[in-house]
Amino acid sequence: MFFAALLTAAVAVSASPVQRQTKTAVLPLKHVSNVTSIKNIVSKGQARMNHINGIQTVGASPDAGSGSVTNEDVSYVAPVSIGASNTWCGAQSSCEKTSTGKSTGDSVSVSYGSGSFSGTEYKDKVSFGGLSVSSQSIGAASTATGFTGVDGIIGFGPVDLTEGTVSNADTVPTFMDNLYNDGSIDTQVLGVSFSPESGSDTDDTNGELTLGGTDSSKYTGSITYHPTLTSGDASEYWGISIASFTYGSTTLASSASGIVDTGTTLIYIPTSGYNKFLSATGGKTDSSSGLALFTTKPTSNFSIKFGTTTYTLTPAQYLVPTAQYSYYGLTSGKYYAWINDGGSSGVNTIIGQKFLENYYSVFDTTNSRIGFATGA
Ligand SMILES: *[C@@H]1O[C@H](CO)[C@@H](O)[C@H](O)[C@H]1NC(C)=O
Ligand SMILES: *[C@@H]1O[C@H](CO)[C@@H](O)[C@H](O)[C@H]1NC(C)=O
Repeated sequence: MFFAALLTAAVAVSASPVQRQTKTAVLPLKHVSNVTSIKNIVSKGQARMNHINGIQTVGASPDAGSGSVTNEDVSYVAPVSIGASNTWCGAQSSCEKTSTGKSTGDSVSVSYGSGSFSGTEYKDKVSFGGLSVSSQSIGAASTATGFTGVDGIIGFGPVDLTEGTVSNADTVPTFMDNLYNDGSIDTQVLGVSFSPESGSDTDDTNGELTLGGTDSSKYTGSITYHPTLTSGDASEYWGISIASFTYGSTTLASSASGIVDTGTTLIYIPTSGYNKFLSATGGKTDSSSGLALFTTKPTSNFSIKFGTTTYTLTPAQYLVPTAQYSYYGLTSGKYYAWINDGGSSGVNTIIGQKFLENYYSVFDTTNSRIGFATGA
């Protein structure tokens, strides 16, 4: 997943324990939020699932699949030095060819479901966090939609998402593939630490991306790994099987398959489970914000089970903090959840930022697995 100029790239990424000689790069991630409406944020996640499920939404082409990375409303960004799975720039201003850049003569086009770009392909040096690739495929956008506050993306895979994005090419090695092939990193692992915003802040530098390993100062206990999905629509993404969703002692859903996505804000669960969640909490979907709304504060924990491990979110973790109500235009005296309706068919689950802000996540391409640990 998930991350222009000073390309401010949206992080969309992806442990093995850091090994002796492993080179890693550690980058701070700043939480940026440019909220035009909370409802827009809610519908972005749903547009993303429609895209994964091949359902055309306005502005999204169903056949040019690509990755998980940015969300125009709430993103985590890292500064990088150039110039989803494709690496590109030029969303805000033109991305000029440097003296070392070479045009390949190919065109590149990627649709994310909540945004897209198209342009021409160059090969150039890309540096990120002190690690460099001398000849990285870069898309120089001539048109881009759906990106505010970021000028491009350094795509961290999975590489399958690059399929069909560049003319005359099958898949295009991602920045991380090239680092690995060059021997700059020993393992294709991304460790991601996001943190909830405190108080009414919405733009803290409160995240960290580790490229080529994990950062043990950002989690406690050990990392538990879960295999990534090998078939189905979610498998081209960071797909994962979910054993259950529960609210207190109520099972909301006993199986689901979804994606772990650093570029999606909320947590989306299957419709039947979402409806059970509303029944159990006495909530309803608020027509104005699109969020689950409660007049009485829910008191039970919400849990997601991957494999045999249960990951719990307390009400303080799954409810919108009251300090952020005025920012999002929400009504005081009511309660709102970050848990939303993912739909009733196809890929209908996204494990987004509001889960990842509470659990350290590890996107391990080398071993086809996703790991989680309790955030430090
Ligand atoms: C926020 O979004 C608005 C509307 O899309 C855009 O005009 C503005 O430039 C954005 N601001 C930042 C800081 O990205
Ligand atoms: C909710 O989860 C928290 C943190 O894991 C735990 O301390 C608490 O006991 C749980 N509450 C209930 C009612 O299970």
